[in-house]
Amino acid sequence: MNIAVIGVGYVGLVSGACFAKIGHNVICVDNDKSKISKLSQGIIPIFEPGLSEIVSDAIEEKKISFTDNLKSALDICDVVFIAVGTPQDEDGSADLSFVLQVAKSIAENSASPKLIITKSTVPAGTGKMISDLVLRTNPKIKFSIASNPEFLREGCAIDDFMNPDRIVAGISDEKSKEIFEEIYKKFPAEKLIFTDVITAELIKYASNSFLATKISFINEMADLCETVGGNIKDLSKSMGLDSRIGNKFLNPGPGFGGSCFPKDIMAIINVAKKNNVNLSLISSVIDSNKNRKIKMVQKISDILGGKIEGKKIALLGLAFKANTDDIRYSPAISIAQTLLEKGAVIFATDEEAIENAKLELKAFDNISFFTDFYEATKDADLILIVTEWGAYSQMDLDKVKKVTNCRKILDLRNILDAKKVVNNGFEYHFIGGKTGSN
Ligand code: UGA
Repeated sequence: MNIAVIGVGYVGLVSGACFAKIGHNVICVDNDKSKISKLSQGIIPIFEPGLSEIVSDAIEEKKISFTDNLKSALDICDVVFIAVGTPQDEDGSADLSFVLQVAKSIAENSASPKLIITKSTVPAGTGKMISDLVLRTNPKIKFSIASNPEFLREGCAIDDFMNPDRIVAGISDEKSKEIFEEIYKKFPAEKLIFTDVITAELIKYASNSFLATKISFINEMADLCETVGGNIKDLSKSMGLDSRIGNKFLNPGPGFGGSCFPKDIMAIINVAKKNNVNLSLISSVIDSNKNRKIKMVQKISDILGGKIEGKKIALLGLAFKANTDDIRYSPAISIAQTLLEKGAVIFATDEEAIENAKLELKAFDNISFFTDFYEATKDADLILIVTEWGAYSQMDLDKVKKVTNCRKILDLRNILDAKKVVNNGFEYHFIGGKTGSN
């Protein structure tokens, strides 16, 4: 099948590459000429494990191409995925201007019927807006509108695409159903869940909101454990063994970040407000997550004797989670900003996100960056782990002891083995349990 994917951001590029991998002919369209030219040479603008190889293979096999010419793509494709960004507007709602602009251009440049599918995360009712818009713009052509939200996680997006829990298809006619079955014929048929367009749009927001709620729940349980003397690791494990709860997304940490959860929660609340529906539970998740970062800074201050000014902190991790260079809404960045404003001196490191963080934190001169995380610990008063990179969980404690005199570790991801750390002579602070020391 010939598929056009509009927008070569994270979602568009991963989806386009994976559609090519499962045998479709894919044309990726974007108006950013320099991005298109780089992609045509196999140069990938984002860090995503495995993506570069898939794109290179697909280019070689002529299964994928990149263009800035929408019309040329529409001339040979009957299925068009819209995968452009839906940034957060000032009032928290999703800004649909890119999506609607693209829909209008599709209508203007189409000479034959098309199935237009939104992959971008769009609020309930967007499908109807697109449907009205394309009909107004080009009444001569029959357009079908569908929603196919993506559930990919950064860092494991290829695996998520290839092994989906479900593929949600919001459709408005029988012909669209057949097209979806053709697009996803390489996947077990029972994975395809058909529904109407508006429900598909809601499923995406509901899923992200639920996962964010689960994280905030376990973070609050971690607070309770710390105060009353429980242990979050055992609590989380035992809760997760209940198949009704499940063990995923029950890891406490510095709060959720990334380009999706914070933005999508705001957007669903906005949709609800506009429709006079009170989502009080989801609203409280926003507060809980905001407070989380304040709490983390308080924890750091307590460990450092109540004073942050002048303290030297080795900050291990800047990305919002491991296996990505993405720092959008990263708790590490927000914690770093507060610490820097309070006068701390930060020695920061990350496995992939240093360049992005340098730009974000360029206003501060009390931060320096290290590619070797051991080097970052050299003059520190506190070693602070904020992102759960594998390299940090496997750190060589003997080497740390040789490099630095610092013997205090605060592990905001609970990735170190408490016993091992303490037996090595460190004071070990973590989330949701008693500090360990010899
Ligand atoms: C999330 C969803 O998981 C995807 O299904 C969805 O497709 C995507 O948003 C999107 O809407 O595009 P992503 O933002 O890549 O994916 O990252 P997650 O792995 O979900 O993590 C989000 C945040 O929650 C991170 O800051 C992470 O560190 C945090 N988290 C996650 C925890 O603090 N604890 C956990 O147990 C799990």
